[in-house]
Amino acid sequence: MDEFAEPSSDSTSVGLDDRQIAERLVYLGFVQQDADVLASLRLWAERNVDCFLQQFYDHQFSHRDFVELVEAAGSDRQRLVETQRSYLLDLFQGMPDARYAQSRQRIGKVHARLRVTPRWYVSSYELYEKYLFPMLRRHLWFRPIKRRRAVAALSKLLNFDKSIVLDQYAEDLAGGATRGLPNEPH
Ligand code: HEM
Repeated sequence: MDEFAEPSSDSTSVGLDDRQIAERLVYLGFVQQDADVLASLRLWAERNVDCFLQQFYDHQFSHRDFVELVEAAGSDRQRLVETQRSYLLDLFQGMPDARYAQSRQRIGKVHARLRVTPRWYVSSYELYEKYLFPMLRRHLWFRPIKRRRAVAALSKLLNFDKSIVLDQYAEDLAGGATRGLPNEPH
């Protein structure tokens, strides 16, 4: 049976079931301790998300291709900040469940429709490495064990997200949602 059940053209298509989510998490080695350490950092994330988003979008908006795509999508920085804020805070909510996985599938659908290529999408996670991880390491500088656990947990969860988003891209590309070669940044 296909891993995804009948993806529809709208953004609320059927998500992964609990078993499929668990299998992905096991494969990544993401366990309850990872979920707990991230959940314990929720308050830190809430206090620091705006600082991260400033840097994240200063970087993104310094690229002409990015600006053009956002304008073509009828979006703007404020809207992106809101969506990215909620995305980021969701990383610190504990064990991923069906709702979480579905929100990541939706991201795949939205970006495939907007013709943000997987390469471009995945490259943006470099900005999490560049800005968010150092903030996290600084916060836990004097707690090396927790620091290592938190960094590992966040890294695994971002890979979980990417795996779902890219599978959704593949589904939508196979279904012809993004015909022809999508945009690439130059
Ligand atoms: C770390 C990588 C990224 C993440 C986590 C991310 C996350 C999101 C999320 C959560 C949404 C809202 C989806 C929804 O409607 O439910 C969104 C929308 C959007 N994203 Fe991204 N995104 C990323 C990279 C990019 C890139 C590279 C571009 C452009 C080149 C882009 C352009 C957009 C646009 C134009 C929207 C529509 C916003 C609106 O509705 O006004 N994103 N993104």
